[in-house]
Amino acid sequence: MTGRIPDEKVNEIRQSVDIVDVISDYVQLKKQGRNYFGLCPFHGESTPSFSVSPDKQIFHCFGCGAGGNVLSFLMDIEGSSFTEALKSVADRSGIAVDVSFPTDAADQESPEQKSIFEAHELLSKFYHHLLVNTKEGQDALDYLQNRGFTLDTIKEFNIGWSVPSWDFTVKFLKKRGFSLDEMEEAGLVIRKEDGSYFDRFRSRIMFPIWDEKGRIIAFSGRSLNDETPKYLNSPETKVFNKSQILYNFHRARPAIKKSRQVILFEGFADVISAYAANVHTGLATMGTSLTDQHIQSIKRMAETVVLAFDGDNAGIQAAYRSAKMLTDKGMSVRIAEIPDRLDPDDYIRKYGGERFSESVIGAAVTFMAFKLSYFKIGKNLQNEGDQLKYIEEILREISHLQSPVERDLYLKQLSEEFEISYEALKQQQTAMYFSERKRDPSQFVSKKVAQLPLEKKNKLLPAYINAERYLIAYMLKNEDVTYKVKDLLSGESFNIDEHQAIFTYLLAYYEEGNLPSASSFLSFISDDKLRRLVSEIEMLTIQTEMNPVELTDYVHSVIKQQKMLTIREKEAEKKEAEKHKDYIKAAEIAMDIIKLNKELSLY
Ligand code: UTP
Ligand code: MN
Repeated sequence: MTGRIPDEKVNEIRQSVDIVDVISDYVQLKKQGRNYFGLCPFHGESTPSFSVSPDKQIFHCFGCGAGGNVLSFLMDIEGSSFTEALKSVADRSGIAVDVSFPTDAADQESPEQKSIFEAHELLSKFYHHLLVNTKEGQDALDYLQNRGFTLDTIKEFNIGWSVPSWDFTVKFLKKRGFSLDEMEEAGLVIRKEDGSYFDRFRSRIMFPIWDEKGRIIAFSGRSLNDETPKYLNSPETKVFNKSQILYNFHRARPAIKKSRQVILFEGFADVISAYAANVHTGLATMGTSLTDQHIQSIKRMAETVVLAFDGDNAGIQAAYRSAKMLTDKGMSVRIAEIPDRLDPDDYIRKYGGERFSESVIGAAVTFMAFKLSYFKIGKNLQNEGDQLKYIEEILREISHLQSPVERDLYLKQLSEEFEISYEALKQQQTAMYFSERKRDPSQFVSKKVAQLPLEKKNKLLPAYINAERYLIAYMLKNEDVTYKVKDLLSGESFNIDEHQAIFTYLLAYYEEGNLPSASSFLSFISDDKLRRLVSEIEMLTIQTEMNPVELTDYVHSVIKQQKMLTIREKEAEKKEAEKHKDYIKAAEIAMDIIKLNKELSLY
């Protein structure tokens, strides 16, 4: 959503350009029928599946699913914020935008935040100057260059040096009129009992930390000698939240969006090293473990995370934990194994970026393959008991795999490694699958199909998914149809979560008095994944007139699917009750099922 920029202004600016013109600056487009086609700039391809619709003023790639309006195109390709994209369109059309142009709610800085950003900006410049141009910084500069940081890298990452004084920063900030009280809250200085202040960072190599908008919000200072801590970080402040911040986010965003992949490192030194070696999609947490918030930010830009953690025990444990969290959140994960217990930075220094990309990142293994070695840790596989325990653990993991091909692959590997017959392993694994399934049937009968099978778009989709997509396509064109569908659904929801989310957005969109327009609706949706889906659905060619019988049929097919899933769930519950000899409960459930079947026959 557009926060504080008035919608009319956004619309005016958006409509002032033709999406075909804007995209033509980046992609060679060719007209075919009503639409234009070209090679998708967001993924590598050799046959054009990237299409632009001048009628609808939207784009969509049938290859990678990218899609949106002219503003989302610019945000994706330039890695810019909504406001920046809007400004660039306004500039293009010569629409005057005054300096006090209202920006996103999140862009609005309080005076205190402003002074925190300013202080960090000024200090980082000064620390950088001390490192690069003065005698005081010479040792630190030598150290950095010895460990392979070039001057270019030092500049790009604005690395600096804080002198060994107790009040250098205090004086610097005071002289420039900053309130020391506020600077204490910003974590830059520390207050003594007597009310005077001293510098938090002294004789440390200063690494600025940026937020997602590229503002410096904190520092991490590395000691030159063996002083502890090795890295001293700014404390949590109003603008620095470690469970949210990912180092290098703003710089890596365009590359990440383009490749839909993130390389996650443990240390920011690794990120810098990788960046200097042309690996531009690296991020790192600030020495904390990965949080759900971190994953949310990553998920908005990418589908895959490659974990490039240190090869030591702590790194392996962290990789396992992170991989589990990411997988649970529906992301695809691979784990890069770095040989000789090196960390990525050491490896890159030793072998270079190209070899890192190819032999480490390129050879990253699936989570399952990682588990094969992970579960060996702490076991002596010569010992029969340990061996059996290991095999059981792996079989359990295998029975959670969705793909029969994958299950087969790992069963074969296991069979070869331990010289146990494939059939015996398969039998035990299947038994495990069914016994788990009995214990927790809910895990296996999921009411909602979690994700739309986008990859399957060229194959035939089940009728109810098609129905939902066509309904959305119609609703995007017509407000009345939207309310009609709402009535017809009478409280039931779409089977696909994303479809339900789009429906909810659409209702809100129309309720705010907006007119049907795919392009304007796309600005209204904040979630990248949903935007892609809307643009894909928009590209479905449908008749402009809506036939009421068709409409009712589609809605009925949606409801039918919902009811059928509920019946399937109830049947599992009934079996469970019967197994526990709870015949009263089973009979109650049977009644529900009869009722549901009756309802079902109405559709
Ligand atoms: P590492 O100890 O692996 O550092 O910490 P590194 O990346 O290899 O750094 P160099 O090569 O020795 O300079 C990984 C991350 O953990 C956090 C930092 O964010 C660091 O990037 N950390 C580490 C701290 O916050 N404090 C510390 O004392 C150490
Ligand atoms: Mn290191």
